Amino acid sequence: MHIDVVSIFPSYFDGLALSLLGKARESGLLDMHVHDLRDWTFDRHRTVDDTPYGGGAGMVMKPEPWGLALDQLVSTEADAAAPRPTIIFPSPAGEVFTQATARDLSTRSHLIFGCGRYEGIDERVFEYADTIGEVRLISLGDYVLNGGEVASMAMIEAIGRLVPGVVGNPESLVEESHEDGLLEYPSYTKPSSWREREVPPILLSGNHAAIAKWRAEQQLERTRRRRPDLLAD
Ligand code: ADE
Repeated sequence: MHIDVVSIFPSYFDGLALSLLGKARESGLLDMHVHDLRDWTFDRHRTVDDTPYGGGAGMVMKPEPWGLALDQLVSTEADAAAPRPTIIFPSPAGEVFTQATARDLSTRSHLIFGCGRYEGIDERVFEYADTIGEVRLISLGDYVLNGGEVASMAMIEAIGRLVPGVVGNPESLVEESHEDGLLEYPSYTKPSSWREREVPPILLSGNHAAIAKWRAEQQLERTRRRRPDLLAD
């Protein structure tokens, strides 16, 4: 999978050189490049924002650097017949990101993340991007971050770990929260007794059918208690 990120704070993404995603990048499973939006500005101050038409608080990201960035990243497709890239703009005004979104996006060959700052990006950038790729405005949740960087990192981690080969043991992807619409069951390891707290005896029983049944019950009980909205459907 090829991932491009455009941001005015590229060093936010240094953390994606670590751990499983870092290894996947080293091995070439994830071909990820982080670009500085200011590289597509030509004035002395490398300006990326301006005041909003119609007035109002804050600044809006100018369209020109975004247009040049998108043109360059999309035209680098080696094969003209390659599928159009999916261009993701993190935004609190977007569709909410879920495990299903991550699964869907993990099948794409080229993702571009455009990280907005300030009051947002000039609306015409989304319209233009829609002519060269599939545009998705995606929100991490119903709260406001200072920009798209942290949201992009979260999405890249959630998507990247679903790319085949990135997580060594694919079975560990099956039994986790949200994969079956429920929260994950509780986990325990040694010692079996710690600070007068015991591991549930069923897990020491060796009875695999009984353990599977207990875990399924725990999933339902936890989901009912913490996230009843997941059971509404
Ligand atoms: N940018 C600012 N807030 C955001 C959010 N909640 N999700 C995605 N991008 C954002």
